[in-house]
Amino acid sequence: MKASFSSLALIAAVASAQERCDSQYPNVYCNTTEVLAFESYDCKPFHIFLARGSDEPYPGRQGNLTRQICSRLGGADQCGYENIEYPAKSTAWGKDEWCKSAAQGASNGQAQFEGYAQNCPNSKLILLGYSQGASVAQDILGGGGGQVFECSQAPNPQLDAKVGEQVVAAVTFGAVARSKNQNFTVGDGKPYDGTRPRTTGQLANLSKYSDRLQDYCHFGDPICAIGSTPQDLDAHLNYFVLHNKEVIDWVVQKAETPNVSSETSNIKPSESQQGSTPRPTTAAPAQDGNAIQTGAASSITSAGLAPMMVLFGTLVIFTL
Ligand SMILES: *[C@@H]1O[C@H](CO)[C@@H](O)[C@H](O)[C@H]1NC(C)=O
Ligand SMILES: *[C@@H]1O[C@H](CO)[C@@H](O)[C@H](O)[C@H]1NC(C)=O
Ligand SMILES: *[C@@H]1O[C@H](CO)[C@@H](O)[C@H](O)[C@H]1NC(C)=O
Ligand SMILES: *[C@@H]1O[C@H](CO)[C@@H](O)[C@H](O)[C@H]1NC(C)=O
Ligand SMILES: *[C@@H]1O[C@H](CO)[C@@H](O)[C@H](O)[C@H]1NC(C)=O
Repeated sequence: MKASFSSLALIAAVASAQERCDSQYPNVYCNTTEVLAFESYDCKPFHIFLARGSDEPYPGRQGNLTRQICSRLGGADQCGYENIEYPAKSTAWGKDEWCKSAAQGASNGQAQFEGYAQNCPNSKLILLGYSQGASVAQDILGGGGGQVFECSQAPNPQLDAKVGEQVVAAVTFGAVARSKNQNFTVGDGKPYDGTRPRTTGQLANLSKYSDRLQDYCHFGDPICAIGSTPQDLDAHLNYFVLHNKEVIDWVVQKAETPNVSSETSNIKPSESQQGSTPRPTTAAPAQDGNAIQTGAASSITSAGLAPMMVLFGTLVIFTL
């Protein structure tokens, strides 16, 4: 992203806005009936946990990816998703808001995993996270917390190992807290740390998922690949336009691999239906706001960009 975000660029951004709900500057949200049809807390063979990016309304850009994965896995009888319930506040809401939000995402997310796994021990679990949600997803698996942006995120431990055994695939895109040179990273952002690297302990625990984790990070992404220049906000926003197809193929392949170590493989929906599970009792999510919906707000500050973005066809001006 260039340092001067001219009105010409704004006009170009409006003109190139696509109908896709998961594009860089979408005009439509991914909360369509086709996507929401998959939202469920029931026991099904496959269950996706979805951590949206900063200031995205539920389910966020990954709603489209989620719908496509569930469709490939046999439709709504076989596969459902739940949102990880958390505020997803960007730094635009205040100095401490990102950290409070991410910490809540990690603890709510782990509670949701534990609740679902307890009710549905034979379900294969899939985790998707974007931007702040990608950071939260990695926090859920390996433990999280630490200094990032201008705040300090409260620590949380790694996911219970027994619950972790049910996780068959996890994909994160443009994670805020991530470490360079990991064998689970995909993309040219690999040699760069994110906005903060993970601690040694967090990384060691996250690495236990290396055979089931893909951490997408583009070169130039101002959030997940600090020091890769020139930085380009588009590189943080275009993961789904560029990678949906390969991610769907990878997740489906992982999910359909039989669980060789257990006779609970090849579970049929009739066997796995154990009734509805109660909605998690995590805190009600905050309303979505009017800031840029990707967690990129502070990168805009650091890149010295004009404080305005085209979002969903509307010019959004926010103070920094
Ligand atoms: C969903 O993603 C696919 C690519 O996997 C794309 O062709 C389609 O337009 C997207 N749909 C929406 C509503 O964004
Ligand atoms: C989709 O999200 C937008 C923004 O939060 C909201 O105004 C709209 O009512 C939502 N639509 C559905 C079907 O939930
Ligand atoms: C796979 O098998 C192992 C060992 O029996 C079990 O602990 C795990 O929960 C199974 N995973 C799934 C997704 O069924
Ligand atoms: C990672 O796992 C080890 C045990 O292998 C544990 O002692 C440590 O506290 C964990 N670190 C974090 C950050 O969760
Ligand atoms: C990734 O590297 C770690 C060591 O950092 C290793 O333990 C793990 O087996 C590797 N995973 C894969 C899938 O190669």
